[in-house]
Amino acid sequence: MNVRKTALLWLSIVILITVSRQEAEVKISPAGNEFKVNQGSSLKFTCEYIGSECTEIKYNWKKQSDRDNDGIKIEGRNLTFSRVTLEHDGTYVCQVTCEGNKKVSKITKIRVYAFGEPVLRMPPNVEESHFFNATCIVEDLREVQNTHVKFAWYLGDQLLNEYSVEVKDDPAKAWHTLPLGLKRTDHGKILICAVKLIEHNETKKVSHTVTVNYAPTVNAEVKSPLIEGDQIVMSCMSDGRPKPSIQWERLGHPWPSSLSRNPNGTVTGVLHRHDRGQYECLASNQVAVVRHNVSLEVQYGPKNTSIMALPQRLIHRGELLNLTCLTDIYPEAHHYTWRKIPTMIMPLGVTMADSSLIIESFQEAHEGVYECEVVHHSGKTERAYFSAELKAEAEEAVPTQMIGAFIGSVLFSIIGGILIGFLVGKRRRQNRLDLSHQI
Ligand SMILES: *[C@@H]1O[C@H](CO)[C@@H](O)[C@H](O)[C@H]1NC(C)=O
Ligand SMILES: *[C@@H]1O[C@H](CO)[C@@H](O)[C@H](O)[C@H]1NC(C)=O
Ligand SMILES: *[C@@H]1O[C@H](CO)[C@@H](O)[C@H](O)[C@H]1NC(C)=O
Ligand SMILES: *[C@@H]1O[C@H](CO)[C@@H](O)[C@H](O)[C@H]1NC(C)=O
Ligand SMILES: *[C@@H]1O[C@H](CO)[C@@H](O)[C@H](O)[C@H]1NC(C)=O
Ligand SMILES: *[C@@H]1O[C@H](CO)[C@@H](O)[C@H](O)[C@H]1NC(C)=O
Ligand SMILES: *[C@@H]1O[C@H](CO)[C@@H](O)[C@H](O)[C@H]1NC(C)=O
Repeated sequence: MNVRKTALLWLSIVILITVSRQEAEVKISPAGNEFKVNQGSSLKFTCEYIGSECTEIKYNWKKQSDRDNDGIKIEGRNLTFSRVTLEHDGTYVCQVTCEGNKKVSKITKIRVYAFGEPVLRMPPNVEESHFFNATCIVEDLREVQNTHVKFAWYLGDQLLNEYSVEVKDDPAKAWHTLPLGLKRTDHGKILICAVKLIEHNETKKVSHTVTVNYAPTVNAEVKSPLIEGDQIVMSCMSDGRPKPSIQWERLGHPWPSSLSRNPNGTVTGVLHRHDRGQYECLASNQVAVVRHNVSLEVQYGPKNTSIMALPQRLIHRGELLNLTCLTDIYPEAHHYTWRKIPTMIMPLGVTMADSSLIIESFQEAHEGVYECEVVHHSGKTERAYFSAELKAEAEEAVPTQMIGAFIGSVLFSIIGGILIGFLVGKRRRQNRLDLSHQI
């Protein structure tokens, strides 16, 4: 509507008012000359006649337009817009007819502008400390030239940034891009972009609840040392968002059948010596795959302790006797103890070094039972016995060798005594006698 037309309009109203002055008056509520209305909002004006009694009263609303008798014409006191559109922009006249001829009227102006809902563009999930752009955009700005748009960014209650821009075009768009890097503690907070049309004193907001993902941190431990036959539980503790999935692998070897990988991320089973080695727990989520090494130490023994003798059968006078104590043990035993029973005193000519016992020149004095004792650092002990006898010169070759192993320090001397008596008494061809006794 141009200035000239508006002036003319006003003039006609002034004339009308002058004519019916003092007699009657029209009130429009809400009162005001001009209303700035955002398109899409609802609006209602009510027209009221104040003046001398009228037995017959008529109200009508009319939109003033360039051409006469054009546009909206409404009977009744109320001018209602359930959803204002840009076409509704204009000047409206409420005309009251009293007693069929006395006419009074009043005008009101509606200035319709468009202020679209702001939209927030950003990734749905962000990674911790990774910068991203959040863009707040108002696509639909009309009839708001030369006004200012202010963008205010909040994370929860905290104001992050403010930015103002002037709207020049019509229609126009306004936007602001904010680079952001969030921390995991920001997860779940609400990012708000508040857009204000400053001159219209109208604010619209858009918000997004932020999801901040982060790489897993892994911690896997296993109680150690572990002994063969123990129940094992290896668990892999992991942090991270989204919650990582846990996977176990064995490095360099196929997964052992004695251990099971449970869906809850734990490894359980009964340990076997072959399970010893390097394992890896992998925690993976959208952000990263994180690996953590676990070294599994499985100790065992001593078990199956025995004495290997060279020569195996006959020991001639002056011959070299070489005894080696063998045992199934991990870690390697450093503690072998050789004893001679029943005397307990080692005769001369016996050299002992860890698992081996050497008698350079076998004599009568060397006859007897030799004991090898192996002690695991856990304290577990096992012993093995070898009965060394000189080949009787007079008799035909009668070897007297015995390799025996048993555990039990209490029973040892009794059994040992019986054994010696038995061997001495029999003095027969007898190669091997294994005695095993578990405590
Ligand atoms: C006009 O609006 C008023 C209240 O705002 C209501 O009481 C009245 O009934 C309305 N009149 C018509 C004709 O719709
Ligand atoms: C954010 O936007 C700026 C300017 O458009 C651009 O240079 C930058 O690379 C963007 N950053 C990211 C993380 O996309
Ligand atoms: C702007 O609007 C708010 C609420 O909508 C109101 O409290 C405030 O008084 C207004 N300011 C002006 C200058 O109109
Ligand atoms: C994991 O699963 C295994 C086997 O199903 C179960 O024995 C163990 O108790 C579970 N551990 C936890 C922490 O839920
Ligand atoms: C785990 O051990 C393997 C082999 O020893 C090695 O290559 C790898 O780098 C280790 N990984 C970690 C996370 O220490
Ligand atoms: C002990 O030795 C015997 C025979 O040599 C063998 O069958 C058995 O498996 C061994 N036991 C262990 C625990 O190594
Ligand atoms: C004793 O026997 C062991 C095992 O066979 C051998 O390694 C070692 O050299 C022998 N010692 C002597 C002195 O013959």
